Amino acid sequence: MIIAIDGPAAAGKGTLARRLAEHFDFAFLDTGRLYRAVGYLVLKAGGDPANETDALRAAKALDPGSLESVDLHTETIADAASQVAAIPAVRQVLLNFQRNFARTPPSGKAGAVLDGRDIGSVVCPDAEVKLFVTARPEIRAARRHKELREKGLESTYAAVLAEIEARDVRDSTRKVSPLIPGDAHTLDTSDETPDAVFDAARAHIECLNW
Ligand code: CDP
Repeated sequence: MIIAIDGPAAAGKGTLARRLAEHFDFAFLDTGRLYRAVGYLVLKAGGDPANETDALRAAKALDPGSLESVDLHTETIADAASQVAAIPAVRQVLLNFQRNFARTPPSGKAGAVLDGRDIGSVVCPDAEVKLFVTARPEIRAARRHKELREKGLESTYAAVLAEIEARDVRDSTRKVSPLIPGDAHTLDTSDETPDAVFDAARAHIECLNW
């Protein structure tokens, strides 16, 4: 059983995905973290995230479990992630890991929740549940700005909004695996609490008789 959750930056995908995974006792994979890890490795090696050779080398060297203690939440890493994510060969390298996770969730779990940009469209097109989680850009920027400040990271609202908007454009207009709602059920979280978003997602899933 697979729940695919896609949507733009800081829309609340991760919060919802974690809660659904806990509710159904499914495994959870934050696929953005894979792209962030590749971006981080490129920057650490002094490379250029937009350069295919640099990005592909990092993607091939990635051991998904090895960066658990590294904070990948900075906006610099997010921006690098979205640059490596536009390179088809990089996406191809990460595809197998994501599909294996979805088909054979770790710890013998009966299902998996994956969140990202192309889960319902490319990684798991046959997922039983597909959700597209979105919110207005100003709301998303305010939430991300608050998150960064709470982590003690430097941040201004204006810079976060600009970064999120640039990333949205890049993620939605790239040739390979662009961010699109497709056949997913859309949840707009702009004016909703995390509890209300979870309840709406659960109601939708229950409606599917699943
Ligand atoms: O947390 P946030 O929504 O800001 O971003 P993320 O989910 O950590 O993803 C970081 C970047 O990775 C995105 O801007 C995308 O460019 C890329 N990504 C992707 O292309 N495909 C995915 N399945 C997940 C992330």
